Amino acid sequence: MADNGRMTDAREVPSVTLAGGVAMPMVGFGTWPLRGHSAAVAVGRALQAGYRHVDTATMYANEAEIGRALHDSGLSRQEVFLTTKLRARDAGHERAVLKASLRALGTDYVDLWLVHWPPPRGKANVSVWRELLTLRDEGLARAVGVSNYSIQQIDELIEATGEAPAVNQIHWNPRRYNADLLHGLRRRGVVVEGYSPLKDTNLSDPVLNEIASVYGVTPAQVVLRWHLEHEIAVIPKSANSGRIAANLDLFGFSLKPAEVARIDGLAG
Ligand SMILES: NC(=O)c1ccc[n+]([C@@H]2O[C@H](COP(=O)([O-])OP(=O)(O)OC[C@H]3O[C@@H](n4cnc5c(N)ncnc54)[C@H](OP(=O)(O)O)[C@@H]3O)[C@@H](O)[C@H]2O)c1
Repeated sequence: MADNGRMTDAREVPSVTLAGGVAMPMVGFGTWPLRGHSAAVAVGRALQAGYRHVDTATMYANEAEIGRALHDSGLSRQEVFLTTKLRARDAGHERAVLKASLRALGTDYVDLWLVHWPPPRGKANVSVWRELLTLRDEGLARAVGVSNYSIQQIDELIEATGEAPAVNQIHWNPRRYNADLLHGLRRRGVVVEGYSPLKDTNLSDPVLNEIASVYGVTPAQVVLRWHLEHEIAVIPKSANSGRIAANLDLFGFSLKPAEVARIDGLAG
């Protein structure tokens, strides 16, 4: 197992099936806070390294560069799973904002469109969710979901429309492990996608290092593999070629249940 640089065959990356039958690769490439030329370069490197899932947002102001990198990659649109997100403050302008995202990305549809944050003061904003469902039904997004929503807010959406978000993209890492939350989302048919998997993790942690040395991988690779063992999709960001490749190179080893449990135990 190389700890950097090995290109992963995109076919090695498993997918999870979202509500509505849309397949989402379990490892995606995070693009915040990449901007301008460096965003296009990093996404180009990620596609070359085998990523087929790219995560962006209106807020990241990098959709045009991602569109350029996709175009320059020579991959067909159907080969890459694209996520973008609606800012909470764009409530009421959903259609115009999605159309602007599609123009910037150079595509007719996104694979997943998320509400980036719930509105302040804790309400779920059902009217935004209805609009997302409408635009999905029109074919502008293959699946729709939310980010940073609580179970209570998701229940509000389900009660109002009968439709659960396909995905909840949430801050997740070993310190944030929460079996009840995971179970609650699963029970509602919501796929969990973790963001900031590495940034807030202590990669010097002895447990992660001990497990990494067993498999000849890095602690970062152990953390990413731990997400997959829990069937949580993960979207690490890197601007560095070696780390871009290493963060996808997760399929030459797997963690034993006891190792997963030790990492779960880092929650605090
Ligand atoms: N929905 C939301 O509200 C939300 C919020 C935050 C993030 N996100 C999404 O989630 C993605 C990932 O989260 P994130 O960017 O916050 O955090 P992250 O992916 O956990 O961490 C990125 C940081 O870790 C470094 N890094 C990457 N690979 C590494 C490795 N193998 N070993 C050590 N360090 C490594 C990167 O530096 P280098 O670039 O130098 O490698 C960068 O500083 C974002 O890019 C964005 O797409 C969504």
